[in-house]
Amino acid sequence: MCGIVGAIGNLDYKSFLTGGLKKLDYRGYDSAGLAFWNNGKISLYRAVGSVENLASIVPDGHAGTAGIAHTRWATHGGVTVDNAHPQRSWDKKVYLVHNGVIDNYKELRAWLAGTGCQFRSDTDTEVIASVIAYFLQEGESPLNSIRKTMEKLDGSYALAILFTGQEGLYFAKNKSPLVIGQGDSRLNCLGSDYAPILDYCSNFAALEDRTYGYMTENSIVAYRNGKNLALRFATKDREDYVYDLAGYPHFMMKEIHEGAGVVRKNVEACFDRAKGTYLFDSKLISDLKAADEIVFLGCGSSHYSSEAAAAYFNRHGLRAASYIASEWIHGVYPHLKNPYYVLISQSGETADLISCLDLIEKGAKTLGIVNSKDSTIARRTNHVLYIGAGLEVAVASTKSFLGQMALMMLLCGAISEDASVPESLLAAASSVDDVVERSEEIDALAEGIVEVHDAFFVGRGMDFFAGEESSLKLKEISYVHSEAYPGGELKHGPIALIEEGTPVFAFAGNPDISKQIRSNVEELKARGATPYIVAAETCAKEGDAFVYRFVDRDFAPFPEVAFGQLLSYFLSLRRGLNVDKPRNLAKSVTVN
Ligand code: G6P
Repeated sequence: MCGIVGAIGNLDYKSFLTGGLKKLDYRGYDSAGLAFWNNGKISLYRAVGSVENLASIVPDGHAGTAGIAHTRWATHGGVTVDNAHPQRSWDKKVYLVHNGVIDNYKELRAWLAGTGCQFRSDTDTEVIASVIAYFLQEGESPLNSIRKTMEKLDGSYALAILFTGQEGLYFAKNKSPLVIGQGDSRLNCLGSDYAPILDYCSNFAALEDRTYGYMTENSIVAYRNGKNLALRFATKDREDYVYDLAGYPHFMMKEIHEGAGVVRKNVEACFDRAKGTYLFDSKLISDLKAADEIVFLGCGSSHYSSEAAAAYFNRHGLRAASYIASEWIHGVYPHLKNPYYVLISQSGETADLISCLDLIEKGAKTLGIVNSKDSTIARRTNHVLYIGAGLEVAVASTKSFLGQMALMMLLCGAISEDASVPESLLAAASSVDDVVERSEEIDALAEGIVEVHDAFFVGRGMDFFAGEESSLKLKEISYVHSEAYPGGELKHGPIALIEEGTPVFAFAGNPDISKQIRSNVEELKARGATPYIVAAETCAKEGDAFVYRFVDRDFAPFPEVAFGQLLSYFLSLRRGLNVDKPRNLAKSVTVN
């Protein structure tokens, strides 16, 4: 979703800010803007559409000693230049960029309107700028104006703020991520994540909620609850943030190619093959063993990977359940005496998941399974395991999904003392590689369905979860309406939607139940559907659309999801769509 980058000190600001926004653009956005501070004056540039549109209206060689920039994913107000950030106060004293949502902005707007304040935009962000300006007019310092404004704001915000006539880059943070970076000399930076400032800074600190402060080119001062705060700075491993297509045409294709490697990396990190022992923290494993239920929480792809994991835990006789985070918060689930909450997230910043953390009872055990290092969920859970997938840029999650499933299955192996899991995962990784190498066959299938409006993915058991994830991928990037159904459920309603030529992708990875899914396919075929059976070689039959290398039945989702990812990718390309940045979606969903 929205992205922030800013700096103060010696820089070419146009190239730093627009370059930084490009590194954030994978999060999804619909307009962009920036502001330079120069000798007490602020210049503002904003554009609808791409960062390139913005760059085209900003003069080169613009002198400045501080700057802030933003990519906006519209929440309050349409996609217009007036609603783009930076927003400024009505008196043009305060310019700021904002990630997050202010819940009480309507009340604040009404209050300010009563004081004569006029608004140019529909945004909650302009209200923040104007509340700060109100306190400035009351004679407060910039820092006190920010503190007093924070007392009035309900909601989430990461803010980077410039003041006309006042040197310094100011910031404030609550519930939306904001990181600070120290440059080597005469430079300090901030960003909504590390990617845009990584090449400019050597030490980084992620801000805790309700922190505010300011930076100059030589110093960074932070406060919480009115008290001076010592920020803890640390270096970052640049490998985790490599932003490079490496010769691939799209990030999604690159990331699909990396999927099998991420599975292998997790096996290596979690299992000592020479000794045949798992390498997880023993207390983590004993606590998970002692839990009366392991509660997986996630959204989107992370929910589907944890559904597959929960089923796998159940197969091993462990009590586990998977919930959609934004539903779990409504509390309709059984009361547990000793739950262990496992929060799954690629970005580690998903607001719906963070809401779960706000509700989880004090003292309850929490584990984060996360890709982004030092993200909010990584910091706020008692224990964190990283899937080590490296930066995932394409909005549609691919390698992270495989990494999450692998890590959760390894965890299950450790809890249930099943040392066969790593070998099965390595076989699954080889099968994924084989699917990826045969991309052209999948592209040929995509070619045959370019014009369709609806598609179905069906499966039973673990294969159903692969169908759910594949169906989500298809929706996300090809905009084809798609449903995922367990084979047996089709006749209870969805079969009414089958028309002549409706494509149905059926996953058959489990020799024990492949007969049933094949008879479901027959029922659909009799009603006009065009079936595409994607089967493991152990249960393949003449005429199947795609046959993948055998893996243990519970690991079939690995090659099946790789198939679904590639099908969606090629269909998106063939429909002339933006594979890496699909409409309306964001990579890091930081609003509820
Ligand atoms: C967004 C993305 C999905 C992703 C979901 C969960 O909706 O578009 O691809 O699966 O967020 O994200 P997370 O970072 O928590 O895994």
